[in-house]
Amino acid sequence: MHVPTRVKLVDVGARDGLQNERAPVSTELKVELIERLADAGLPVVEATSFVSPKWVPQMADAADVMARIRRKAGVRYPVLVPNLKGLEGALAAGADEVAVFPAASEAFSKRNLNSTIDESLERCAAVCEAAIAAGARVRGYISVVVGCPFEGDIAPAAVASVARRLHAMGCYEISLGDTIGVGTPVKVQRMLDAVAREVPIERLAGHFHDTYGQALVNILAAMELGVATFDSSVAGLGGCPYAPGATGNVATEDVLYMLDGMGIDTGIDMTKLVAAGDFISTAIGRPTASRAGRALLAKCRP
Ligand code: HMG
Ligand code: MG
Repeated sequence: MHVPTRVKLVDVGARDGLQNERAPVSTELKVELIERLADAGLPVVEATSFVSPKWVPQMADAADVMARIRRKAGVRYPVLVPNLKGLEGALAAGADEVAVFPAASEAFSKRNLNSTIDESLERCAAVCEAAIAAGARVRGYISVVVGCPFEGDIAPAAVASVARRLHAMGCYEISLGDTIGVGTPVKVQRMLDAVAREVPIERLAGHFHDTYGQALVNILAAMELGVATFDSSVAGLGGCPYAPGATGNVATEDVLYMLDGMGIDTGIDMTKLVAAGDFISTAIGRPTASRAGRALLAKCRP
């Protein structure tokens, strides 16, 4: 099997995971989670979103989170921004990396961003220009790259077209989101084939929600095509508030267990990662969704 020798994992639990929690999660808990993930060796820890608090109340403390995290040298802490207002808040809070997040379907774009795909891409272009001028890096997400809760199957060409435009705007990496976790390996590879004709494969990342238990095999399918960056959530936290039925991202612990077992280097310490997953699951009163996390905890607490 031809797979990368090193993989970069981006933990999105503090954002993609916690954005979906109905009960308030304190800023203090979010900060401790982010710091524990950085301490476990995650090279990128997505910290929060500068979005409308009316749309996602859980992320209303974005500026406080950014002010309070102790930043570890060499670790990046990107934040989501949907528009220039969000960028302004993110830069004022000291963010040096932001992420824009258009969708590959019109219906999802309307629900998540209250705009058409074209309108949202115009906003992304304005954000990219201003962010890059201010010295910040911009990551691009694309939601619903395989299937949409409102429109069903998504054509790979629709994803490729959005990816081409994000790349042209200066996004250094494009994360392809299977928001509702409906992808299976061949569908994912077809989508990646189409996108890789527009954007070099080393600039692509996979972002798989694990709703149907397909995320790990989809990661493997993407690695076979040369993708070497994946998003995941510690303890498998989360879901998207605007994607009915979506569950959390693939658990970081489960991805790490697979990569460690394949001898693929990530720089992440499993013991510290499992402890971070246990910490947040206990704090929010929810059992971990990570199978590897559960098994490893049971081993040390028989
Ligand atoms: P809108 O209602 O059309 O916006 O929403 P608006 O410009 O009319 O503003 C409405 C109000 O929000 C105004 O306040 C604005 O000031 C305020 P009011 O005058 O009513 O008091 N506002 C803001 N406040 C703070 N920060 C901002 C901001 N912008 C406006 N940046 C908007 C449009 C884009 C704002 C809204 O739709 C929104 O915030 N959407 C975000 C939804 C979201 O965060 N979804 C989850 C993240 S995406 C995801 O999870 C998928 C991903 O993981 C990939 C995958 O899984 O596939 C990334
Ligand atoms: Mg997501």
